[in-house]
Amino acid sequence: MRSMWILWFYLCLILQAGAVTLPPKAAIASAHPMATEAGLSILRAGGNAFDAAVAVSATLAVVEPYSSGLGGGGFWLLHLEKEKRQVMIDGREVAPLRAHRGMYLDRTGEVVPGLSVDGPLAAGIPGEPAALVHLASQYGRLPLSQSLAPAIRAAREGFKVTPHYRRMAKFRLQALRASPAAARVFLHNNAVPPPGYVIRQPDLARTLEALARRGREGFYAGEVARRLLEGSRRAGGIWTQADLRQYRIKERKPIVGQYHGYRIVSAAPPSSGGVALLTMLNILQDDALRTLPAARRQHLIIEAMRRAYRDRAEYLGDADFVTIPLDRLLSRDYGRQLRRRILPEKATPSETLVPVAAKQSGFHTTHFSILDKEGNRVAATLSINYPFGSGFMPPGSGVLLNDEMDDFSAKPGKPGTPNVYGLVGGTANAIEAGKRMLSSMSPTFVEGPQRIAILGTPGGSRIITMVLHAVLGVVEGKGVQQIVSQPRYHHQYLPDVVQFEQGAIEEEALQRMGHRLKLIRNGYGNMQIVLWEKDKQRVTAASDPRGEGMAQVE
Ligand code: GLY
Repeated sequence: MRSMWILWFYLCLILQAGAVTLPPKAAIASAHPMATEAGLSILRAGGNAFDAAVAVSATLAVVEPYSSGLGGGGFWLLHLEKEKRQVMIDGREVAPLRAHRGMYLDRTGEVVPGLSVDGPLAAGIPGEPAALVHLASQYGRLPLSQSLAPAIRAAREGFKVTPHYRRMAKFRLQALRASPAAARVFLHNNAVPPPGYVIRQPDLARTLEALARRGREGFYAGEVARRLLEGSRRAGGIWTQADLRQYRIKERKPIVGQYHGYRIVSAAPPSSGGVALLTMLNILQDDALRTLPAARRQHLIIEAMRRAYRDRAEYLGDADFVTIPLDRLLSRDYGRQLRRRILPEKATPSETLVPVAAKQSGFHTTHFSILDKEGNRVAATLSINYPFGSGFMPPGSGVLLNDEMDDFSAKPGKPGTPNVYGLVGGTANAIEAGKRMLSSMSPTFVEGPQRIAILGTPGGSRIITMVLHAVLGVVEGKGVQQIVSQPRYHHQYLPDVVQFEQGAIEEEALQRMGHRLKLIRNGYGNMQIVLWEKDKQRVTAASDPRGEGMAQVE
């Protein structure tokens, strides 16, 4: 009898342990209601977080054509609960084999404006299709044909034009008009479509079907590949069959660090996000930020940003091509060294730091966060770079090509020489055939004993500082709505200015300390967060009010 009781006792313990380690609900937050709904439908059909990630990614590729797509790439940060394993799927684009350092320079060695931004020459070899196939085959439990079904439907039946779509289309009107196939799909009578107009993409539906049927061969070989290559070549592109055949995703070990009892897991190179985020947190590790007067807290955070972005510009690039001193950049001692040089109430002019060229990455991208009831998680940030990428669509493919080549330094090694955005870049991120361009995309997990957050955002070079604000928010016990809504500020070393949203900072006090300020009137970012609070047995999620996304818990 006694042994029965002991058995019962241990059984109860095991059950209880199980109860507290699994989330009570699943949740998805993404930048578009149709993408969130697509992911939820896959979870309801018995798929896991990774199947849902395929559905959300592919649907975003259809309904947010200005942010990401099959013609682009991204980073998918995965947590596999059963194996307690984490991995980053690097589906970043690579430079075509015919790419070279001088490809965006004229005969006098100057950058040709627009060449790395508009048209097929701006496009790296896409990684998203290969990443979706890999996600489904290695981590999902549903066939690709099922997880891609909502996206195929959305492409065929269409989605409605929103005010945000119209802003993006207006911004890229010229590039879209230059590509008749893109203009037919994304414009109406060669102009920005009216609100409510339905965008249908039958060619994209067929390309997605080919991917669903034939896996990576459905995109990187066969009819779709033929259309991509022919369309690109005819319009001046340099892609070859070998480029498509050779493209491979990489599984990478995420960047991991600690901050105030939380484990921070974020994107590895070729993203600069994880490294810069950890550098900032290491600089701030010994400060009780929560107890400081607002202006002093903001000053310290701004100075941490300045220093991390300086290092980003100097050291970061594709780790398969350049040596990155990761141990040093991620060491807590190095963070303390940098912290000692921050003056208590005085801005450090960026020009007084050891000089290096800095470059900003593109600004239209998307993020989603997923938690399933088995505890699996996905944080994914995807991009085609500029709104609507290069604006170029190879006829018959339905695929809008990215312009991520602009995330390389077009003219490295000459600090002070601006690129097409008026910014300059370092040699670690110089163009080389087959190399991945540096990114700021920072899908991130914040893991405490009781609070686990899955988060990220688009926003070009401001991504990393937005993620920093969100990490601090999670650690300081803020709720998801507050985290996505809070006004933001940003410093990226060069230009030497604090960019801020209304109400984010103590303007007068910071100016007195010597900070130069620039108000960003329309705000920036589109953060998507899921938070699992184990002690409260609660899952919450939020979508940035600056965007048109939807977060749902069920
Ligand atoms: N193209 C945006 C980024 O990768 O940071």
